[in-house]
Amino acid sequence: MCGIVGYVGHRQALDVVVDGLRRLEYRGYDSAGVAVVTGPGTLAVERKAGRLANLENRLDEVGRGEFAGTAGMGHTRWATHGPPVDRNAHPHRDATGRVAVVHNGIIENFAALRAELEADGVELTSDTDTETVAHLVGRAYAEGPTKGDLPASLRAVCHRLSGAFTLVVTHVDEPDMIVAARRSSPLVVGVGEGETFVASDVAAFIEYTRDAVELGQDQVITIDRDGYLVTDFDGEEAQTRPFHVDWDLSAAEKGGHEYFMLKEIEEQPTALADTLRGHFVDGRIVLDEQRMTDQDLRDVDKVFVVACGSAYHSGLVAKYAIEHWTRLPVEVELASEFRYRDPVLDRATLVVAVSQSGETADTLEAVRHARDQKARVLAVCNTNGAQIPRESDAVLYTHAGPEIGVASTKAFLAQIAANLMVGLALAQARGTKYSDEVAREFAELAAMPAAVAKVLGTVERVRELGRSLADSKAVLFLGRHVGYPVALEGALKLKELAYMHAEGFAAGELKHGPIALIEEGLPVVIVMPSPKGRAVLHAKMVSNISEIQARGARTIVLAEEGDETVRPFADELIEIPAVPTLLQPLVATVPLQVLSAEIARARGYDVDKPRNLAKSVTVE
Ligand code: G6P
Repeated sequence: MCGIVGYVGHRQALDVVVDGLRRLEYRGYDSAGVAVVTGPGTLAVERKAGRLANLENRLDEVGRGEFAGTAGMGHTRWATHGPPVDRNAHPHRDATGRVAVVHNGIIENFAALRAELEADGVELTSDTDTETVAHLVGRAYAEGPTKGDLPASLRAVCHRLSGAFTLVVTHVDEPDMIVAARRSSPLVVGVGEGETFVASDVAAFIEYTRDAVELGQDQVITIDRDGYLVTDFDGEEAQTRPFHVDWDLSAAEKGGHEYFMLKEIEEQPTALADTLRGHFVDGRIVLDEQRMTDQDLRDVDKVFVVACGSAYHSGLVAKYAIEHWTRLPVEVELASEFRYRDPVLDRATLVVAVSQSGETADTLEAVRHARDQKARVLAVCNTNGAQIPRESDAVLYTHAGPEIGVASTKAFLAQIAANLMVGLALAQARGTKYSDEVAREFAELAAMPAAVAKVLGTVERVRELGRSLADSKAVLFLGRHVGYPVALEGALKLKELAYMHAEGFAAGELKHGPIALIEEGLPVVIVMPSPKGRAVLHAKMVSNISEIQARGARTIVLAEEGDETVRPFADELIEIPAVPTLLQPLVATVPLQVLSAEIARARGYDVDKPRNLAKSVTVE
């Protein structure tokens, strides 16, 4: 939530920063801004409400030559404090205009800091929490013990801030350096030849270098052309972790697709295969990082999956498999609810925290709460070294690659695969499955990339169907068993992309309320269980469809190839390959992603950047 980038090197900073912002726009697109040190004593700042394109137009009007300089920074905002208007766009400056600051996070004590500054006669020009930091850093640099020392000034200010923040700061008197601080919100460093970058995500600098360094909590970094120096908030030199990014620029670009999301839907077979790769070795499931013993895994007597959004749905899918394979009770809970209801946790509880970004504030706080209660935490995450895996006892990375579209697609499928591997790892540790059974389940999972590729080969018909639904007022989604979370995910996709009212229901609940919503022509998407795998549920579902069809619904049925029984009840039939029952969500979700994207396109919406949303939500 909010993307930030800073650069010092031999290139024109404006070009690097604007390119970086383009790749970070998924983090927020309420406004964008840049600051470039254009010479000793001069700082050029421009900021504009709305998408990055507005800022770029403004830069063209002003003339990009006004921004000549090799140190600079930029910001793309998801508004928290103050509406998305020009005056609240970052960078923010102090009263002298000599300091500029960009920020990701929330400074919780900003009201007190603001009051203090106002009492001192400082006139604040925005509604943001960030502006207070610009004034405080300006003062710390101008006078007192940290006078003339920008890193020390920022460290001193950090001691006064509470909340979550990544801050990047520049000062006209320090034209060759950029200073940044990190608490809770992400920040990575890119190390190039004669140039150094800081950014919310490696995507911002992947064009220039794949050598990155992960910052820890409560650290301040100073970058210049020759490298970086990291300290803690007290100025003591601090440890960092270098890593090499295993994907390149092409992964962060659209590659000929109209939208990132469409490309990411296509990439799902690869995302699944990459996620599974290397996790079944010598007949055993292996995690990526394990800072807990095998005995700890054996001792687990209860599992919670905590997550938000689509990641939460991936947990709901996995619950069916984990309980079936391990006989452990599994609860799946929204991270935002979990820690506020006093869940019963102890050393034998395993909390599986699922997060694409690894920085979602609700999930991170749930992890912290679980650890405080002595529970073990296993993270399923798509971002190397993000905060959630750092604070967990074990990690399984999904290798979906960068996901730029705000609505999750390939990361969701990869999360399901990873969650299922967590289930197999538990079954193996507890002995509830023999080794050959684990091998069989894994082999079935390993066949899923091909099954998803097959689905992708048949979605043209789904696109047509999507266009025919563009004027609908609402769409309902029904499922049973593992089809229920698929229905929830289908409805979420439609809400977030097409701004259409959509609800997912457990089909058995239909008669307990939702059936009242059915009226003539209402599209209802039904995820059918396999007639072979879940014959009883299949029969019940056929009855449910006929009930709604009798009441005028337009039935859109997702059913296994060769499922002839359901055909008479389907106004529209979408066929999916026959796969093992517990894995059906991997194939059933794909047409629903395509359907929502196509409805959104037909309605003229930006599929990658739905209104009001941001991809990584770093505030509670
Ligand atoms: C946001 C995104 C969703 C995502 C959710 C959880 O709401 O728009 O697509 O599922 O956050 O994100 P995470 O990074 O924790 O998986």
